[in-house]
Amino acid sequence: PKPQLLQGLTVTITAGPTREAIDPVRYISNHSSGKMGFALAQAAAELGAKVQLIAGPVSLPTPAGVQRIDVQSADQMHQAALELAVSSQIFIGCAAVADYKVAQVAAQKLKKTADDNLSLQLVKNPDIIAAVAALLQNRPFTVGFAAETQDVASYAKQKLQKKKLDLICANDVSVPGQGFNAEQNALTAYWADGEQPFALQDKSQLAEQLISLIYKRYSQ
Ligand code: PMT
Repeated sequence: PKPQLLQGLTVTITAGPTREAIDPVRYISNHSSGKMGFALAQAAAELGAKVQLIAGPVSLPTPAGVQRIDVQSADQMHQAALELAVSSQIFIGCAAVADYKVAQVAAQKLKKTADDNLSLQLVKNPDIIAAVAALLQNRPFTVGFAAETQDVASYAKQKLQKKKLDLICANDVSVPGQGFNAEQNALTAYWADGEQPFALQDKSQLAEQLISLIYKRYSQ
């Protein structure tokens, strides 16, 4: 058994993609499998935390001892996250939330027309992690991820500042064998006055190291 370092703490984690409906049978989404977020949930639970895992549509088993809340859309994830964040000491946003949703979801299946082009109007989704970090009361220690394909460090540091996060985990999702839907990942954690790189390794092992860093930063 592991030392129960996180005993008494509640950790809320978002994982997986969101699904933004176009019509009753179609949606916009991304390649997130939920593996990274589920590994974080498992690592936190093994250290004795009460873990609430808000999961988008993924096909992964729930880690032992973890309370799972299934959602589909960013709006649903937003609502669940704000509800659970206020009773959490640590919030980790690992989900790949769709930045945009379809402005008007069609009530019936869209029909193919004679026109060769089809336009969908998109509108911005709420920024879930920014909303959590902006809580005036009961704000948890807030950790985000940054999925980038270029200028990883500078975009990640911008997100850390702009979303007012306590820590951000920056991963380069253009490198094969890591990031979206891979077994392994590599990333660098940034906070206001420090950074720490984590080499390519299995997401389960990486999650243990990340939870340990997050706990250390939370305690200071
Ligand atoms: O799920 P896996 O297949 O294991 O892949 C893991 C991963 C690549 C998805 C993960 O490591 C990762 O990078 N997650 C964040 C993906 C993402 O959407 O990053 P972003 O740079 O677009 O968003 C920055 C941060 O804002 C993230 O913490 C995100 O959860 C949050 N966000 C983004 C948009 C939005 N509307 N609300 C948010 O809360």
